[in-house]
Amino acid sequence: KKTKDQLVIDAGQKHFGATVCKSCGMIYTASNPEDEMQHLQHHHRFLEGIKYVGWKKERVVAEFWDGKIVLVLPRDPSFAIKKVEDVQELVDNELGFQQVVPKCPNKIKTFLFISDEKRVVGCLIAEPIKQAFRVLSEPTSLQSPNSKECPRAWQCSDVPEPAVCGISRIWVFRLKRRKRIARRLVDTLRNCFMFGCFLSTDEIAFSDPTPDGKLFATKL
Ligand code: ACO
Ligand code: ZN
Repeated sequence: KKTKDQLVIDAGQKHFGATVCKSCGMIYTASNPEDEMQHLQHHHRFLEGIKYVGWKKERVVAEFWDGKIVLVLPRDPSFAIKKVEDVQELVDNELGFQQVVPKCPNKIKTFLFISDEKRVVGCLIAEPIKQAFRVLSEPTSLQSPNSKECPRAWQCSDVPEPAVCGISRIWVFRLKRRKRIARRLVDTLRNCFMFGCFLSTDEIAFSDPTPDGKLFATKL
């Protein structure tokens, strides 16, 4: 539908202000050549990275009306591992995380949410853990307002609590958020992480959560 309002908005987006790309989700200023270049680069890399062609022996662990969840394990064929690495790179870039080397790479479970359009729109990376530290407070007021350092350095309890499963990454493609994709990934993880039992939320811990991650985690 082409309403008058939309036409006005479209014209605005072409010439000034921020545009959200409907495919890659990047926000950029279309009138700024440098921004536009950066967008093009990101656009192609992103779409290539999340493209999912599928493989014969893929491990479908859940199916929904709008997609499915595939589990990838460390000993899977190299093309499956490659896809996971591509997605993880995108996610780490977006989150500004450093590449962390997992303690037990052979015990990592990666869940990919594949949309009907054959794209990876969600990703959850989990590993077995023995203990976790409860987050005690909001980002501290100790931070001076103009310092950007350590936005994630929340105070943690120094008393470890037993935990079973650590979520080292959870990510949903920007344009697909708030559709319960992350929640379905976590539910599937709880169901599949240990054979024969459904993990309670107490047994799951998020490592180094972002503000989004924290808002999500408190709703589990
Ligand atoms: N603000 C407030 N509440 C939220 C938010 C938010 N940004 N995100 C989720 N919730 C709560 C809501 O209650 C929501 O239910 P509702 O939509 O019915 O209100 C509930 O959590 C379930 O949300 P989902 O739809 O399942 O979450 P989504 O699919 O949007 O994914 C995620 C959440 C993964 C945090 C997403 O926002 C994201 O990818 N963000 C950027 C990456 C990131 O920060 N990831 C966490 C890093 S921490 C880590 O990886 C260990
Ligand atoms: Zn784009």
